[in-house]
Amino acid sequence: MTTPRTPAEIGGMGHSVKRKEDPRFLRGQGTYVDDIVAPDMLYLDIVRSPYAHATIKNIDTSKALAIPGVLAVITGKDLAAYNLHWMPTLMSDTQMVLPVEKVMYQAQEVAAVLATERYIAADGADAVEVDYDPLPVVVDPKKALLADAPVLRTDKPDKKDNHIWHWEWGDRAATDQAFREAEVTVKEDIYIPRIHVSSIETCGCVAHFDKVKGKLTVWMTTQAPHAIRTVFALVAGHVGLAEHKIQIISPDIGGGFGGKVPVYPGYVIAVAASVLTGKPVKWIEDRMENIQADSFARDYHITAELAGKKDGQLTALRIKTIADHGYTDAAANPSKFPAGLFHICTGSYDLKAAHVEVDGVYTNKPPGGIAYRCSFRVTEAVHAIERMADLMAHEIGMDAAEFRMKNFIKPEQFPYKSALGWEYDSGDYAAALNKAMEKIGYAELKKEQAEKRKRGELMGIGISSFTEIVGAGPSKHFDILGLKMFDSAEIRIHPTGKAIARFGTKSQGQGHETTYAQIIAEELGIPVDDIAIEEGDTDTAPYGLGTYASRSTPTAGAAGAVAARKIKDKAKKIAAYLLEAHEDDLEWEPGKFFVKGSPDRAKTIQEISLAAYTNHPQGMEAGLEAVSYYDPPNLTYPFGSYICVVDIDKGTGEVKVRRFVAVDDCGNIINPMIVEGQIHGGLTMGLGPSLYEEIQYDESGNILQGSFMNYLLPTAVETPNWETDKTCTPSPHHPLGAKGVGESATVGAPAAIVNAVVDALWHLGVRHIDIPITPPKVWKLLRDSGVTE
Ligand code: CDP
Repeated sequence: MTTPRTPAEIGGMGHSVKRKEDPRFLRGQGTYVDDIVAPDMLYLDIVRSPYAHATIKNIDTSKALAIPGVLAVITGKDLAAYNLHWMPTLMSDTQMVLPVEKVMYQAQEVAAVLATERYIAADGADAVEVDYDPLPVVVDPKKALLADAPVLRTDKPDKKDNHIWHWEWGDRAATDQAFREAEVTVKEDIYIPRIHVSSIETCGCVAHFDKVKGKLTVWMTTQAPHAIRTVFALVAGHVGLAEHKIQIISPDIGGGFGGKVPVYPGYVIAVAASVLTGKPVKWIEDRMENIQADSFARDYHITAELAGKKDGQLTALRIKTIADHGYTDAAANPSKFPAGLFHICTGSYDLKAAHVEVDGVYTNKPPGGIAYRCSFRVTEAVHAIERMADLMAHEIGMDAAEFRMKNFIKPEQFPYKSALGWEYDSGDYAAALNKAMEKIGYAELKKEQAEKRKRGELMGIGISSFTEIVGAGPSKHFDILGLKMFDSAEIRIHPTGKAIARFGTKSQGQGHETTYAQIIAEELGIPVDDIAIEEGDTDTAPYGLGTYASRSTPTAGAAGAVAARKIKDKAKKIAAYLLEAHEDDLEWEPGKFFVKGSPDRAKTIQEISLAAYTNHPQGMEAGLEAVSYYDPPNLTYPFGSYICVVDIDKGTGEVKVRRFVAVDDCGNIINPMIVEGQIHGGLTMGLGPSLYEEIQYDESGNILQGSFMNYLLPTAVETPNWETDKTCTPSPHHPLGAKGVGESATVGAPAAIVNAVVDALWHLGVRHIDIPITPPKVWKLLRDSGVTE
């Protein structure tokens, strides 16, 4: 949909309505969790382990307790008295809240200090003396799988190794057969390193247990408030926290990107401290704690193989992967899929056979496997297939764009059943790639590259034509800890025609207050400014699974449309009554019903709203409101084609992204300006891991990038001028024809950048470079091939 159906005053779909939430953010008047101040509030700070693996021999709290203002030091033994020292992870593994016997990674929580002031709590944490006995450390997941590796999870009596799970999907026999028959095959080891969500706001909470009401209120930076409430009730029901006595409030959130889905120990300790003292307890991570101890993303060791014919026709894909999960599997994947949606790895190509295997492994690192701006391992899947497609094209000497065009799933093949079982809803991949090629001037760039190569200059062109998979449910296949993955909306129209709507999701900067209002404006013709949107308070919002994995538009957005349509059905009945006409004789135009052929005989939605409370038909219930719990029939499959041009400095190995064209397709667009913002941010989050970001550990498990001094985020200086465009292929099953978009760019960008760098260096024998492509890595390749000294 390119032309809006509603006028600008209403501001339905397709209008670049300015974000309703921005006035409070721009004035510095957002309410983030650290802005919450309660009377008599206490503060928590956490003692963290300097060792990656060690037995705790003793914790001496005497010096800390002697500091005026320090009220308590909470240890694992204290929590064990209430059986709260362990908690379940979202993948049904177990995670320590505070350790009793040993620590499993550097920066793990060891004890917590409760004090009257933030800085006293920090002084108290410094004064806690812990006596450790270091144990052997395993940081490499391949070494963790060796027979003589120390078994890390000694808390699991039956566990005799560090292997968590094996998962495979697809037809092994057919894939092996296709490889045996292949005319050409390519194989590559691709490591996608650990990276870290670096939201502007770190994690934290204020927990307040009101002893009189017996009610726990927790303001916290969570992307999934309802799920958290249920998990708290399940974990702490035995100490009296029933679900109707728990209220989770997600206030404004300064970026989540998947990192604010898990339950971190700090939350549980703060709740326990508040329940024990009856006072509000605030815990806010500092920046170093956030980067060193919160859940990490990626860390996939992939071996991929692609088979095809000499004419470029692809036939089969085979992938084996080792997934490093750190000391516990705390991924936020749907339960049925331990490797997330990695089996979208056949990408945009019509592959007849595919087989994928993933093995999860424990190491002495913080828990990993979160879906950082990614719909559960889709970034890893796209990186693998887009690197392999490029490798194959180069191998057979075919232009990378032509190769993709030849292998794309064709528009007439949709709905398309992939070799790994997904049913892609809609797509026109060639249209997106053509548009990107035209916009960037592909043919001229190829000529320029050929000329530059003759002169010895290093220029590369890289393509990524990715397919995403977003919007989990359907609930038949998707749940988290048994909670089905639907989402919800509840709309109430007031007598004066204004509305309030509440959703089961939670915006962390995506602009839901604007776009959800636009969906209702589209359906009911009520102006966007007359609609208030609320999310994040479990006492008022309908139950939902939250915002991550670009699921808000496909699920809650759809629920908003369905609830609005229920209201419209009732409004039609009221209009027929008011106009003394038959319902079938009424027609709708944005904002009013009128009698067919008599446009003057009309009732506006505002008049109908008033009548719903003052003059509704006898026998009909008063009021105008509806709820929808929307269970999507399928996921949505947004896609795009990105083309990147790089120049490489021969002296330093530095890669400069000269141009980057991104053509995205997320079906019908609610707010073009917000979508463009999502793409811009997403591209920058794709650039970071491609060139700069990586978390590494030394042999002893010490983190090497524990602060922004050496964990490099791209700034405006490094970020190129993104050139964006779009095609529009609506989703056939979404009520608005919309697909999710929040993550497309982060998922699609890295492969385009790597493909461009490898393209620049292919003639020197370079076949692959693992991200991040740092100057030293490139410089070494240039030196080894004699290009530089
Ligand atoms: O779940 P999350 O909000 O992160 O992702 P999303 O559903 O892809 O939406 C991100 C933002 O883009 C939201 O404000 C959406 O309403 C908006 N959007 C849009 O305007 N049109 C689309 N087709 C998809 C998303």
